[in-house]
Amino acid sequence: MIKNLAHIAIVVPDLQKAATHYQKILGGILSEPLDLPEHGVSVIKLQLPSCLLEFLHPLGEGSPVKKFLEKNPEGGLHHLCFGADDLETFKKNGEDTLRFLNEGKAKIGMDGNPVLFVHPKDMSGVLIEVEEC
Ligand code: CO
Repeated sequence: MIKNLAHIAIVVPDLQKAATHYQKILGGILSEPLDLPEHGVSVIKLQLPSCLLEFLHPLGEGSPVKKFLEKNPEGGLHHLCFGADDLETFKKNGEDTLRFLNEGKAKIGMDGNPVLFVHPKDMSGVLIEVEEC
């Protein structure tokens, strides 16, 4: 089942500015910025003692976070990601109550592991990612 909070994703208008600000306030270790064209985002990660923050910025026209940034021009919480032992079991347990994005098909996430997204309408307005890890 669910093992941990894998990361918190925050979409921001300026990656370096947001990540540096968070590090100044919270501490932690910043990654270098990374462009992930296959995921339509640029990312900087901030590793804190017990949680990982991922700052995301749209990359390219088809970016999955482009609309979010248009709606939230100053940035905002985009999703929470939980780590799970087994995505299929998670999906099976939720199939009566949850709607999954991408017709419930797992994709390979930014960290190279299979991921599944649960519709925010079924999770009190919060987009939930579940990562097999
Ligand atoms: Co994520």
